[in-house]
Amino acid sequence: MQRIQKCPSRCTNIEQQELLIAACRTALAAGRLIKEHYEQPHDVTMKGVIDLVTDTDVASEVISSASLSSDTPDIMIMAEETITSHALETDRYWVVDPLDGTTNFAYGFPYFAVSISLIDHGRPIVGTVYAPLLDELFCAAKGAGSWLNDRAITVTKTRRLIEALIGTGFPYEIEHSLPGVIRQLETMLHNVRDIRRAGAAALDLAYVSCGRLDGFYEINLKPWDTAAGWLLVEEAGGLVSVFSGRPYSTCVPEIVASNGALHRQLIKLLK
Ligand code: IPD
Ligand code: CA
Ligand code: CA
Repeated sequence: MQRIQKCPSRCTNIEQQELLIAACRTALAAGRLIKEHYEQPHDVTMKGVIDLVTDTDVASEVISSASLSSDTPDIMIMAEETITSHALETDRYWVVDPLDGTTNFAYGFPYFAVSISLIDHGRPIVGTVYAPLLDELFCAAKGAGSWLNDRAITVTKTRRLIEALIGTGFPYEIEHSLPGVIRQLETMLHNVRDIRRAGAAALDLAYVSCGRLDGFYEINLKPWDTAAGWLLVEEAGGLVSVFSGRPYSTCVPEIVASNGALHRQLIKLLK
């Protein structure tokens, strides 16, 4: 399929190219399954007080893990619904969010995605986010740029916060962090054009990479929420850091991503 050739054809080596193709192929297969399940009744169970999981999250994870294991049997997988710490003991591992935006999916709110990334020595080297309802495949590889289906994408050029559309999200364990979340939201609302809380962090980051958002911030996200989007934003010309401006790592529970031009201004508000 043409769109899973464009970005890989810019990869710096064959191995990276094969890894990206494996990630994209897997995301497309998992996305197809999610789309088929979308209109059907969902079997929902609770992971926490408000945190849902559906049978589709699990089915998507089973398909994703099987596909990645068959293409790259030597690479371990860290996937949200069957999380083990073994992958973290290796230098490179896949990080999979089989369905980012589960609450949206369960309610029939059409904003969700599959997110897959390969982490190598702590940083993503390939990544993909696939939104099945719009059939939008975002992918990126270190040094090869970011792509949406078959076109290269870049972040916006917005320079003034007051002209910026900023995405964010709220953690499931909100009662522990509510005062800080509200304070940051209030500061943002005073300073930016508007805020979006669309409900799928991986897709929010992909939206920064293609210019549908000027920036994004959130706390308490997990590696599977951020790894692919982190690479998408950087390869599209943007910046990703923690709230102090120091380099981002998936071990740190806060992320701010932007088009670069707005980064210092966002950090000043979030600090
Ligand atoms: C969630 C979504 C949401 C974010 C939450 C995440 P899930 O992921 O990305 O936007 O605010 O913090 O956990 O549970 O739908 O995979
Ligand atoms: Ca997620
Ligand atoms: Ca998920």
